[in-house]
Amino acid sequence: MSTTQRYSTVAIVLHWLIALALAGEIALGFAMPKDASGFALYQLHKSIGITILLLSLVRLGWRLTHRPPAQLEGGWEGKLASLVHVLFYVVMIATPLAGWALVSTDPINVPTVLFGVVPLPHLPLDAGINDFAHEAHEILAFVAIGLFVLHVVGALRHHFLLKDGLLARMSFDKGGMALGLLAAVLLVGAGVFFGLGGSQEEEHDHATDHGPATTEDSVTGEGTPADDGHDHVHEEDAEAADSEEAAEEAAEPEAEETAAAAEPAGPPPSWAIQPGGSLRFSVTNSGAALNGRFASWSGDIAMDPDAPESAAITIRVDLASATLGDATQDSMLSGADFFNTSSFPQATWRSTSVRRVSGNRYEANGTLTLKGVSRPQRITFTLDGSGNSRSVSGSATVDRNAFSVGVGDSAANLGGNVTVNFTFDARS
Ligand code: HEM
Ligand code: HEM
Repeated sequence: MSTTQRYSTVAIVLHWLIALALAGEIALGFAMPKDASGFALYQLHKSIGITILLLSLVRLGWRLTHRPPAQLEGGWEGKLASLVHVLFYVVMIATPLAGWALVSTDPINVPTVLFGVVPLPHLPLDAGINDFAHEAHEILAFVAIGLFVLHVVGALRHHFLLKDGLLARMSFDKGGMALGLLAAVLLVGAGVFFGLGGSQEEEHDHATDHGPATTEDSVTGEGTPADDGHDHVHEEDAEAADSEEAAEEAAEPEAEETAAAAEPAGPPPSWAIQPGGSLRFSVTNSGAALNGRFASWSGDIAMDPDAPESAAITIRVDLASATLGDATQDSMLSGADFFNTSSFPQATWRSTSVRRVSGNRYEANGTLTLKGVSRPQRITFTLDGSGNSRSVSGSATVDRNAFSVGVGDSAANLGGNVTVNFTFDARS
């Protein structure tokens, strides 16, 4: 075969790079847990997705300025192949755009930092299109899978039945081609397989993820999102998460069904936080515990303990009230390396979904806004008491690096996770 019948090297490299990235991206999209524990995988998904967008734009530019080899086959088969190719270009560009639109209009404003390095701005779009972008993103991904099947069946038909050397036009050597094909098919298959398990669970209970985050979880850091950025995805992680979810679902189907069946009666009652509570934080410093507290904080709580799904909770913390009991350390806490209280006087946490874990134990997912960054943050708590009075105590593990709290030399020996504990009485 003469070299003029081959695609150009640039076209071949881009074809296989994008093919593998796209297959991995679809797998990742389905496999990533759709809650706070999937934070790092979301960041990776968005990073790879934007990379695919950029590569595809380069590829489109190349395709429009460089003539591909003449088609090998005419008729309806040739037309179908061309249609699949055109639709592939549409999908390669429209899917990441829809994903970008989806995160830009999400009611929870989660910042995107591509590969942990480049901040991705939000597209200036109306929040009303969020549902549409969500649907479009998912449908386009399914269209990509359909095209992929048609495309591969077509390529294999040429290779094994027509034996017309079509595959060679898009490859450097046969071994690499076979390996690429296998990897792509395995990636998509694995993602759809793990993802379908995950989405069934998600439909069953949106707030569910890795089960209750106990205090032990907090100490070991289990169940908290990993640092974003350079994490590499392992399908095993997703699988492990899925099997935990499955086990949890099997363990408590009745409680969840009862909760789903029970209609909450009217709006949930409001609770006033009584004076005398405490909000403490603890972090390791060179291995030793450093304990502090916030002297000033407040909150609005609307929650029916028997129907926590309708709860709406907001907690506001006056960051300048943070104290470690030492004047020098306290002034450092309010400085730019830590809370930067002159620019960001307040941290807020707002619930997005609350559920009963068991008995008087609850789990609340929400968004923590601290130092200008908003991120998913889970809190677990217990309620004791009855009637119009409750004692509340709970905890959360905050990844301080995600909010840039503690940067520079003075924070060099601090642990990454800050454990926050609170207790207070509430009356309705
Ligand atoms: C998600 C994965 C894939 C995407 C998005 C994709 C996309 C495309 C596109 C858009 C073209 C047209 C080239 C152009 O005119 O720019 C093309 C051609 C081609 N692809 Fe793929 N492809 C994928 C996977 C594969 C796989 C797994 C194989 C091997 C079985 C394959 C084999 C080929 C061949 C042989 C051609 C050349 C067809 C011809 O010469 O007419 N592709 N691909
Ligand atoms: C070619 C590129 C991409 C492909 C093939 C792809 C594919 C997928 C798939 C298959 C899902 C799971 C579908 C679902 O459960 O709703 C998903 C979800 C998601 N994708 Fe992408 N994606 C791409 C690019 C992007 C980009 C660039 C972003 C953002 C910048 C993004 C953001 C998201 C988000 C936020 C979700 C989760 C939606 C949810 O909460 O259900 N994606 N993606």
